[in-house]
Amino acid sequence: MPITRGRLITLEGGEGAGKSTLLSGLRELLRAHGIDPLMTREPGGTPVGEAVRAVVLDASRSELCPEAELLLMFASRAQLVREVIAPALAAGRWVLCDRFTDASYAYQGGGRGQPVDRIAELENWAVAGVVPDITLLLDLPVSTGRARAAGRGEADRIEVEADAFFERIRDAYRARAAAEPGRFRLIDASATPDAVLAQAGAALAPLFGGVTS
Ligand SMILES: Nc1ncnc2c1ncn2[C@@H]1O[C@H](COP(=O)(O)OP(=O)(O)O)[C@@H](O)[C@H]1O
Ligand SMILES: [Mg+2]
Repeated sequence: MPITRGRLITLEGGEGAGKSTLLSGLRELLRAHGIDPLMTREPGGTPVGEAVRAVVLDASRSELCPEAELLLMFASRAQLVREVIAPALAAGRWVLCDRFTDASYAYQGGGRGQPVDRIAELENWAVAGVVPDITLLLDLPVSTGRARAAGRGEADRIEVEADAFFERIRDAYRARAAAEPGRFRLIDASATPDAVLAQAGAALAPLFGGVTS
C-alpha cells in the first residue's frame, strides 16, 4: 500500500481572530474523520522554538530590532520544519499549525516593513519548500480582534503595537490570500465560534476525500 504524505493546514490571522479556539474545534472535526492531527504553533513548537517565542513576545524586550525579530521567527520555523513538520508529513500525519510563514510576510513584512524579497529568500532557504496544503485566514476588523485579545490578560511585545500596525498586518494577509487563492481560504472570523468552525470544515472538506481508513 502506498504511504501517502500527510497534510499541512495552517491558521493565520491577527490578534484575537480565534485561531486557538478554532484549532480545538478542528482537532475534534478531524478526529471524527479518523484523523489524529499533530498540533503545533509558531513561534514555538519545539524546545528551541519555545525559547525563541519567550524572547520575541517578552514585552520588556523593547530593544529587539525588526531584523532580529524576522530572523528569530525564521530560526524558530527552520527548527519546527526539520524537527516536527517534515517528519510528521513524511510519516503521513496531518499537521495543524497555529501560524506559519505567511505570518512573517504579514507581521515582519506588512507590520514592521521588512522587505518582501528578503522574507522570500529566508523562506526558500529556511523553510525548505514546506508549503501548507491549505491556509485558513481568519479575517476580522482589527478593533474586534483586539477587544477579544484584551480579555486574555497582559499584552505581549507585539500586542502593545498601535492599531495602524495591525491594519497593515490585516492588509498584508488579505493581499497574500488574494494572490494565492488556490491555497488560502478566507474565513469570516467575526462570526460565532460555531459558524467559524463550519466555514473551516467546509474549506477542508475536499481534503477528506483523499483519506483512507
Ligand atoms: N468567533 C468568536 N466569537 C467571539 N469570541 C471569540 C471567537 N473566537 C474566539 N473568541 C474569544 O476571543 C478570545 C481570543 O480567541 P483566541 O482563539 O485565543 O484567538 P487567537 O488565538 O487568534 O489570538 C478568546 O477569549 C476566545 O474565547
Ligand atoms: Mg492563539
